[in-house]
Amino acid sequence: MSDSRAAVVVSDAGLAQRLGLPLGDAAEAELVLRREGDRLVLGGDPRRFGAPLAVDFVAGRVAHRRRFGGGRGQLIARACGLTGGVTPSVIDATAGLGRDAFVLASLGAEVLMIERVAAIAALLDDGLARALAAPDTAAMAARLHLAHGDATRELAALVAASGVAPQVVHLDPMFPHRAKSALVKKEMRLFRVLAGDDDDAPRLLEAALDVASHRVVVKRPRQAPPIAGPPPRHVLEGKTSRYDLYVHRSLKG
Ligand SMILES: C[S@@+](CC[C@H](N)C(=O)[O-])C[C@H]1O[C@@H](n2cnc3c(N)ncnc32)[C@H](O)[C@@H]1O
Repeated sequence: MSDSRAAVVVSDAGLAQRLGLPLGDAAEAELVLRREGDRLVLGGDPRRFGAPLAVDFVAGRVAHRRRFGGGRGQLIARACGLTGGVTPSVIDATAGLGRDAFVLASLGAEVLMIERVAAIAALLDDGLARALAAPDTAAMAARLHLAHGDATRELAALVAASGVAPQVVHLDPMFPHRAKSALVKKEMRLFRVLAGDDDDAPRLLEAALDVASHRVVVKRPRQAPPIAGPPPRHVLEGKTSRYDLYVHRSLKG
């Protein structure tokens, strides 16, 4: 954090109590979680953080990707083993704004999203509720499940409570890379205030390798080293990112 204020406060008393976050306004924190129209948004000084963030599975960037995104040819689909007639269930243990989870659910996978930052989990919960209520996204949203918790410390318990089989565990921890566009830079800044640098990624990888029945996949910036730990068995390279694959067992058997 860059100043002495709280990282995040909530402007609505009921919501603050439900999330266990402090009640307050923009003068008291770098970021405020508040209702705007039909949605929950998280934002701060727009010069620093850009436009407020919301999770929107119905319209905007992710919806465009659902319609025109390249289906099972996409790198994430190949990495997670959604090839041919195979559709494994996936634990996305670093859910963030749910964009990757959304792609996988759009392609038919049952997905458990795990997010440890309460304010981000609240955005996901809100986006999921709106997706369940919209005819275009209701079926996809019914395959998306959400757990608020820390996957490094309690992955097995969160997975067991969800009932989603951990055939594939997908990880996309924060990495201090240089973002190209100003928009992405501002969004990353906001994430960093809340989520830090995910320095425990090596322990998260260990937990994922313990829990996954078939495969662990880790999204990395293309030039970044693998997460410290056992070396990946396969690597899938994309234009800007890469997937490191740790395979226990074939998904086809
Ligand atoms: C780079 S973002 C992921 C973006 C995501 N793949 C998407 O498509 O929107 C990383 C997120 O993972 C969360 N995270 C990191 N380590 C975690 C852990 N051990 N348990 C739960 N969430 C974690 C962070 O709080 C952050 O929101």
